[in-house]
Amino acid sequence: MSFDNIYYVGVDDKRIDLFEGQYKVPEGMTYNSYVIIDEKCAVLDGVDADFTEEWLKKVGDVLKDRSPDYLVVHHMEPDHSAGIKEFTLRYPYTTIVSSSKAFMMMNNFFGSDFVKKHLVVTEGDVLNLGAHRLTFINAPMIHWPEVIMSYEEKTKTLFTADAFGRFGASDAKSPWKDEARRYYIGIVGKYGKMVSNLLKKAAALDISRICPLHGPILDSDLNFYLDLYQKWATYTPEERGVTIAYASVYGNTAKAAKLLKERLSELGCQAVKIFDLSRCDKAEAIASAFMTDSLVVASSTYNGDVFPPMHEFLRGLTERGFKGRKVGIIENGSWAPAVKKTVLEMLKDSEQIRYCENEVKILSAMSDQNREEIEALARELS
Ligand code: FEO
Repeated sequence: MSFDNIYYVGVDDKRIDLFEGQYKVPEGMTYNSYVIIDEKCAVLDGVDADFTEEWLKKVGDVLKDRSPDYLVVHHMEPDHSAGIKEFTLRYPYTTIVSSSKAFMMMNNFFGSDFVKKHLVVTEGDVLNLGAHRLTFINAPMIHWPEVIMSYEEKTKTLFTADAFGRFGASDAKSPWKDEARRYYIGIVGKYGKMVSNLLKKAAALDISRICPLHGPILDSDLNFYLDLYQKWATYTPEERGVTIAYASVYGNTAKAAKLLKERLSELGCQAVKIFDLSRCDKAEAIASAFMTDSLVVASSTYNGDVFPPMHEFLRGLTERGFKGRKVGIIENGSWAPAVKKTVLEMLKDSEQIRYCENEVKILSAMSDQNREEIEALARELS
């Protein structure tokens, strides 16, 4: 894959089960890397450690008998930079180009003094390769503090590091939006402000193509991707709908959650997603809670708290800046229900949360009154 002397030299990882040791990736991952051939040649980023040899071979095949003048390191996380040391052994005269923080991290990862030639770049600096010119953009916390991005003006290409990436190898079948959302909310959801800053900078550029470090190159309908990022960065729901997340010990809370889903669907609510937090991919449940404008949490009481899978889910929301949603609560407790109290406490710093007027309080198993409460909650949310 290439365009205007910019070559893709990334790899597919189909062995990986958990990205960052925590996110399920049943369709694998890509680690993207690019080579620009010009008067000066530049390699942009690398790949995960298990694929260093494959990457170096691809780089060598593109370069043919030339040596790269530059290795641009946009992001120092090991899924992109684990092979830097091997790269420098093969190409000792290549200048490593990165941010000052990235060079500190390089020393921490690989020990000092292995980089013979280095160039520190920051916002607005330009790397002139000939016909191609890379202008650097600081992008801290998308996804680590050292991240830089770059804009290549001849091809109007924005190299965005982790931003605009997705889970899944190059032949992944699931929709980009779903796996990009789960990836975005999971890894950078907390840093919406920084992503908003980046989008402001991007708005000033004439962009024809986005080259992320994961997932496909985006070269058409860019407004679709930029609009989604705008929503995610500002914690704006993508659609009217309800995410129901339940954590049930003996199935009674699950029954209540499923009854609510059934009634919402019957009442015409189009987007209703339900998640059994004991068994589902929590990252998907968390991403769904950011996608819809309403969330219902249903939990058994456990040790005077919510059931642990619910605790983990709520923590996953708050640490990613969950806000601006309507929230309903279904609590269950056989002798001392503590779900409502715990949910309110855990979401107390979340901004603009509007709680549903209709509450459901189950004492062990659903009663007729609980069915009426669920009906009222469904009507309020539909
Ligand atoms: Fe794909 Fe933050 O590394």
